[in-house]
Amino acid sequence: MNKFYVTTPIYYVNSRPHLGHLYTTTVADTITRYKRQRGVETFFLTGTDEHGQNIERAAEKAGIPVKAHVDQIVAEFQEMFPQFNLRFDHWIRTTDEYHQQGVSALWRKVRENGYIYKANYEGWYCVGCNGFLSEDETVPGKDEIPVCKTHERPLERLAEESYFFRLSALQERLLEYYESHPQFIRPESRRNEVLSFVRGGLNDLSVSRVSVKWGIPVPDDPKHTMYVWFDALTNYITAVGYGNEERGGEENFRRLWPADLQLVGKDILRFHAIYWPAFLLAAGLEPPRTVFAHGFWLSGGRKMSKTLGNVIDLTVLRRHFSADAVRYFCLREMVFGHDGDFTYEALIERVNADLADGLGNLSSRTLTMIHRFRGGTVPTAGAGATDETREQAADVRRVVEQSKLDFEREFDDYNFSRAIEAAQGAIARVDKFISDLKPWNLAKDPAREADLDLVLGTAVRTLRQLTVLLVPVLPESTRAIWEQLGEAGDPAALAPASLSWQEPDGLRIGDVKPIFPKLDRKIVMDEIKKEESVTAGDATAPTGPGATGPGATGPEAPAAPPAEPVPGVAYINIEDFTKVELRAGEIKTAERVPKADKLLRMTIDLGEPEPRQILAGIAQYYDPEKLIGRKVIVVANLAPRKLRGFESQGMVLAASIGEEGRPILAGFIEEVPNGARLR
Ligand code: MSP
Repeated sequence: MNKFYVTTPIYYVNSRPHLGHLYTTTVADTITRYKRQRGVETFFLTGTDEHGQNIERAAEKAGIPVKAHVDQIVAEFQEMFPQFNLRFDHWIRTTDEYHQQGVSALWRKVRENGYIYKANYEGWYCVGCNGFLSEDETVPGKDEIPVCKTHERPLERLAEESYFFRLSALQERLLEYYESHPQFIRPESRRNEVLSFVRGGLNDLSVSRVSVKWGIPVPDDPKHTMYVWFDALTNYITAVGYGNEERGGEENFRRLWPADLQLVGKDILRFHAIYWPAFLLAAGLEPPRTVFAHGFWLSGGRKMSKTLGNVIDLTVLRRHFSADAVRYFCLREMVFGHDGDFTYEALIERVNADLADGLGNLSSRTLTMIHRFRGGTVPTAGAGATDETREQAADVRRVVEQSKLDFEREFDDYNFSRAIEAAQGAIARVDKFISDLKPWNLAKDPAREADLDLVLGTAVRTLRQLTVLLVPVLPESTRAIWEQLGEAGDPAALAPASLSWQEPDGLRIGDVKPIFPKLDRKIVMDEIKKEESVTAGDATAPTGPGATGPGATGPEAPAAPPAEPVPGVAYINIEDFTKVELRAGEIKTAERVPKADKLLRMTIDLGEPEPRQILAGIAQYYDPEKLIGRKVIVVANLAPRKLRGFESQGMVLAASIGEEGRPILAGFIEEVPNGARLR
């Protein structure tokens, strides 16, 4: 059957909807529209993950019953997503009765098949991850209590009776599955990570808690609740009828399962690429066809977090940008599978350069000229145009046809940014065609009527083809262009491959209205900054003159000089500080410098075309081989200077400890892209 079932993760209800949630859901929505436009029966699932200790504690803190607390947050999600035009088919909540029935059915099946047993467990538990962590997932903390690398909070020592899932018994089957299904984990780099993790050996997994009350009771042993990931992952099958009748029962399940695409962030890939197929295999069910892990949106090169004050407020985002602009940016700016940088400035730039000057300009100039020179009717291209015009028009048509093929090929492979680039290539080509052939001049010359017809006809046909092609990415604006083209019906119901080139002959076009008005960068940015400081509240409001740049608005922002200066402190202002260009870099090579005991010569990747050569006096304290791959902080705009005959093109930062000034290299706990600026 020609169906496509796509899922997003179900979102925790311990935070308000944010850009990460919006992003995955936008990608799922775009793929769904893409498939549907091509006649595929689609099912798009999203929802909320509502159980677990974290949520229990948050409700306790807020002083309201847990269900009431989660209802509030779910309502916020459900109000926010439609504002961005996200049209899912079903919203699952793990507190839904049918889901609980389905999860219990899966548990029973897995237990019946011998994959669940009871034992005692003791380990370090992270409330943020909802799981026991292994040593490589932690860093040492105070009083020998390890700290979670992801959540940066101390772990809890838990010892309790627990049910275990025999994950270790499935190691070989998983590896065989990965081998025989190369598309199961994507992208390739993540697949390799998972493979090497599984090859390293799998431990059995504790899948129940007696200490957590807010969860689904274990069948026949209700003093245990199920491990939240067992409960949460199962949503993907309960939502389509597994173990319950409400969602269509067995018949619906057979129709839709396995899911065709499960979208997840890279932080939760392990759960989806190891535990999830393991649970399914243990129950005798098929794993999904593809789990795709996307990267993270950073803000100005840094992880988004409330403490850093650099999270994107979705209400502010929506107030200043159309839903289409946001989805365009999400799909075009981030290479799917990699991290991307989200800044309002970049978003404004994309709206202006790609949308207003691209599709928007093509649409308004073409349609306006048809009104002006051809009384609003799409001309039929007849004979009589010059060879040059005909050749150029034929080339435009060839580029458009090719861009349709490229768009589909890239889209089918989930390379959204490249798919969009293909469409943009066709827009650039027809723009050049119009500028070269100057229809406004042709219109003045009665001998060139046929040329004018051909130029306008080619431009409008290109516009029509691209409008239909871009429906999944720009659903609202393509609809508006469609109407202005004078077309009836819904472009979302037309497969691009089915469009004929000649079709719009004789069509009467409608009124021309701007589709993507240009944004004034300064005005928009000033407004956003004002609103952000209000929504962030006093604690995060700018603290002084100059403290308005990104990263300067959070509670950890450098405070403005106090009115009474601290004696002995030579203050600098923010402008002085920003003169120093600090960037994240990765050490690619490192070696000792002959006849210089202290010096190491390194090449460091700062995200520039060539790595920099940098020398540092750390040779007595660091083994060069151990430095390879390490992320460091580099002063990138220090004037180059020669040391022992080698040019040093920057400086690596290190703390200087004790009398001897022992250097300790500064670095990052989280992942940072090379070249990210520190502010
Ligand atoms: N509840 C679990 C998922 C269970 S699925 C059976 C969960 N929820 S979450 O709300 O914390 O995260 C949901 C998704 O948002 C994850 O895929 C995560 O990767 C994604 N993102 C969170 N921050 C993000 C960015 N800054 N950028 C892109 N996506 C990020 O995990």
